[in-house]
Amino acid sequence: MRYGRQEGTPLLQALRLEAERAEALVRFDVPGHRQGRMASDFSRALGDLGLRMDVNATPGLDFLDHPTGVIRDAECLMANACDADEAFFLVNGSSVGVVAMILSACGPGDTILLPRNVHRSAIHALVLGGAVPVFLPPEADPTLGIAHGVRPAAVRDALDRHPEARALLLLHPTYFGVCGDFAAIADLCRKRGVRLLSDSAHGAHFGFARGLPPSALSLGADLCTVSVHKTCGSLTQSSVLLLRERAIRHETVRGVLNLLQTSSASYLLLSSLDSARRWLVHEARDTFAALLPQVDDLRRRVAAIPGLRLMAPPEGMTLDPTKLTLDVSGLGISGFEAYRRLRERWGVQMELAEARVLLAVVSPADGPESLSRLADALEALAADALSGHPDGLPEPGPEPHADPPPLVLSPREAFFSPSRIVPLADAVGEICGETIMAYPPGIPLILPGERFNRDVTERIRRVHESGGTLVTEMDDPRRVRVLVRQEGGAP
Ligand SMILES: Cc1ncc(COP(=O)(O)O)c(C=O)c1O
Repeated sequence: MRYGRQEGTPLLQALRLEAERAEALVRFDVPGHRQGRMASDFSRALGDLGLRMDVNATPGLDFLDHPTGVIRDAECLMANACDADEAFFLVNGSSVGVVAMILSACGPGDTILLPRNVHRSAIHALVLGGAVPVFLPPEADPTLGIAHGVRPAAVRDALDRHPEARALLLLHPTYFGVCGDFAAIADLCRKRGVRLLSDSAHGAHFGFARGLPPSALSLGADLCTVSVHKTCGSLTQSSVLLLRERAIRHETVRGVLNLLQTSSASYLLLSSLDSARRWLVHEARDTFAALLPQVDDLRRRVAAIPGLRLMAPPEGMTLDPTKLTLDVSGLGISGFEAYRRLRERWGVQMELAEARVLLAVVSPADGPESLSRLADALEALAADALSGHPDGLPEPGPEPHADPPPLVLSPREAFFSPSRIVPLADAVGEICGETIMAYPPGIPLILPGERFNRDVTERIRRVHESGGTLVTEMDDPRRVRVLVRQEGGAP
């Protein structure tokens, strides 16, 4: 790409192409409004008015940093719908919600317990705020190479070893829709005076219909962030932070959010949240009542496809029925290859691929037609793959989040320490100075302060070579940032 001449609009062009493919492609990724197919007040209003609605805080439109008018009203309605004491609208997704939860609950040097398979935003909060992590081992599935929820026993053990812990962050659910025993863990936290934070980025719809898991707030969370855009039809980036005001004051959360969010919040995003809330209250129950039996039928059809296996949650954990995680290893191709073929040959957009796994997110905008296109495409993919030559299947593990590289410095200390760039192959034994992750799901493979071992360098190499997207600071992910060794000691 040459940047000297400025007549092109590459982003807009690419976006228009994707928009033109809206009819051809059946999607099982987020956002849930499915390119406008989920009828809501917002999509109806957007029409021609779209750009005319993109205004800034003017009289009558309130101000997100200090809402006293229509934004405040909309936030109160959201809080009421979610059974929260306060709702804060977010315009940088649950990414900002997770950071805000941690900065509201912990100060510099405070201990926070969290599973290792957290989203990168939790690590960013540790760098920004200086809380010190104690990682909990999530339940791992070594065959699939993915991690699930945390067991209450692991939390109890960590609380015994770290009575000083100020907060615990849980995923409810994980990216793959798995929920641990949140209520039992909330009980432990309450007894020990530990603040409970829930990253419910993938659970905004929880609690709004029968057959869906209960919301984290109803199970005892103090703070909970939900990506309304992922599953409930608002625009990408629009999320909500929900508070039950016990240990954490609403003024604290507002102050932290004002530190982190733009002073020019998009009214398109904000108003799409208002509309999504109304949809959740009035339409979610009937929509999911019709949808979930269709998803059951889809599961039965997919379960009968040779070479494919549907992931079941580990014992004692539950699954959001709208998430379908497929083990494709029986087809002799990788999840990355299956993802590519589904889009290119059968017009199906999945949410994510891992070495052995594909994830489809079913949304309230789906129905018999889209679900049967997914099943047809999976049948065709399986028939095609099983009749061809196996590609050579990538190994899934080692699963990094269950057995992570050792943390030898706090993420904040490591992030601000002098560093140098080395080839990945030479990094073993060095302390990492950056966050490296596969995206999606955006879970760090290694984070600042962890010491590179051979498992993690292998994992990074494998994701790169098998076509996954690696997010690192470097243009070339085969080069990594490590800390400068100090004379006579660590790092
Ligand atoms: C577990 C988890 N938390 C937080 C986020 C961030 O959410 P958002 O995309 O709304 O910023 C994601 C994004 O995928 C996620 O998977």
